[in-house]
Amino acid sequence: MITLKKMIIKGGKRLNGSVSVSGSKNATLPIMAASILGNSPSIIHNVPLLADVRTMGHLLKLLGASVGYENHKMIINPKGINNYKAPYELVKTMRASIYVLGPLVAKYGWAKVSLPGGCAIGARPIDLHIKGLRKLGAKIEMEHGYVKASAKKLKGARIVFDKVSLGATVNIMLAAVLADGETILENSSKEPEIIDTVGYLKSMGAKISGEGTDCLVIKGVKKLKGVDGYSIIPDRIEAATLIAAGVVTKGCVKVKKVNPEHLAMFLDKLKEAGAVLKTGKNSVEVCRHRGRLKSVDIITEPYPGFPTDIQAQWMALMSLAKGDSVIKENIWENRFMHVMELVRMGSDIKIDENTAVVTGVSALSGADVMASDLRASAALIIAGLAASGETVVRRIYHLERGYEKLDEKLKKLGADIRVEMEAAV
Ligand code: UD1
Repeated sequence: MITLKKMIIKGGKRLNGSVSVSGSKNATLPIMAASILGNSPSIIHNVPLLADVRTMGHLLKLLGASVGYENHKMIINPKGINNYKAPYELVKTMRASIYVLGPLVAKYGWAKVSLPGGCAIGARPIDLHIKGLRKLGAKIEMEHGYVKASAKKLKGARIVFDKVSLGATVNIMLAAVLADGETILENSSKEPEIIDTVGYLKSMGAKISGEGTDCLVIKGVKKLKGVDGYSIIPDRIEAATLIAAGVVTKGCVKVKKVNPEHLAMFLDKLKEAGAVLKTGKNSVEVCRHRGRLKSVDIITEPYPGFPTDIQAQWMALMSLAKGDSVIKENIWENRFMHVMELVRMGSDIKIDENTAVVTGVSALSGADVMASDLRASAALIIAGLAASGETVVRRIYHLERGYEKLDEKLKKLGADIRVEMEAAV
């Protein structure tokens, strides 16, 4: 018997007050993997307390590193690393485990990482990671569900990614920083989490330029040192989720410790939909808007496009907007599993392949729903906050992978929300 948690929300409460965003999950995970590359311990601040972060810590410990974690401060000492294998049991729970492949082969000449396989939102291939490492001179073999990479010394190369991939950009960059000579990564990811990882690598002594553009230039160095204090950027997806919670309840919510520039596309779309927002240097304030939101279309795209990680939350908002909105998912082929659950709450949504058409309704009604992945959980909570009656979101372990204490943060803003244990087989 395993124990699962469920979240119970009594909808219809207007949220009010201020709330701070935690550090970014998607920046913390590559930065933790980058710590492998140092010759001394690293201290990282503003680390979010999340299941995925604990899993990455567990993986680094398994490799032989020591990992200490207290009050959002993490200390990683890679000195004891003497094992170069990331096992299936860990990789299957968190695909970002693949990030250790590049740094291990670059520093120790050898790595064996389980293939991530598929997951609820899509196939999640790693062909671009493999192609890139091969270009840097690594010998790659696939064996018994594992990728084995070896190299005496990686050599810089020019790599043009066929597709923009956050994960492949991370992996290749974490390998190229210790390669001989220059590596040029074209069509690389421009996501803020990449810029943060570059910032961290530079503090370790790496020579990188071009972050924030689609061409990264990396000049390999012989060794890198640990970082004596680096602070992770705010989590733009958590920020967007909290802003959406304020908007859907027509509340007055100030979301603090955010970088509004990272949310530019989302905030523009919200304004277009009629939300009233005030943007400060490090805050976004949601102010009460009149009537219903207007329907607005979105297409998910690599940064600075509309993030795939906010698509489900946007769908929850559009469920209550006036008119039809077209939502096109361009990153993950199977990222509409929240649709059927939203429909059970009264949403009117039709799907055709990777396009959903949401016809706004005037009200949602609370229901018993099941979270299928991390951002789907957030969408169901947003819908539950606005729905009449009680919504029970089951399997919220998905939520805990990527949101730090979301229930407590929403409760502080006035939501009627509680988490209970439920038994399951
Ligand atoms: C992606 C998102 C990221 C989000 C995360 C979880 C982008 C660019 N990245 O990052 O914002 O937080 O999902 O939802 O929006 N691909 C290949 N071959 C590869 C690697 C990727 O074909 O070797 C494809 C994927 O199938 C996908 C696209 O490239 O269609 C983007 O994948 P990638 O950015 O690598 O995924 P994540 O790093 O998980």
